[in-house]
Amino acid sequence: MTMSSTLYVCVTCRGNGDISAGEPRPGARLLAAIEHGSAEVGEGVAVIGVECLSNCSRSCSAAVAAPGKWTYVIGNLDPEQHAPDILAFARQHSAHELGLPVWRERPEHIRKNTIARVPPIALKESP
Ligand code: FES
Repeated sequence: MTMSSTLYVCVTCRGNGDISAGEPRPGARLLAAIEHGSAEVGEGVAVIGVECLSNCSRSCSAAVAAPGKWTYVIGNLDPEQHAPDILAFARQHSAHELGLPVWRERPEHIRKNTIARVPPIALKESP
């Protein structure tokens, strides 16, 4: 049985553009876009807003994690474009026992903007 994955979305990311007073931050808009699309995610992915994943210069940022699986930090997410990509990747991560979706099946933006991956705790060998 695979463990469900959690998609953490940074709501404080400022993205690349200027922010007008009173406008929601790009990170908050990314979370809203993901939550809007999460009805299509189905089982296996929880979405949680967090503050700062320490990837501010390459924002917007999100992370995908689950107990016993690899953790990924993804950057350069555009709230207008990339919610479906990060949702698809979280779904793939949830479906794989170790959180290692097949590289070529990952959305292109995810392949090109994976900032870091971190092994599961107690991993003995690198797959
Ligand atoms: S504010 Fe989003 S990664 Fe720092």
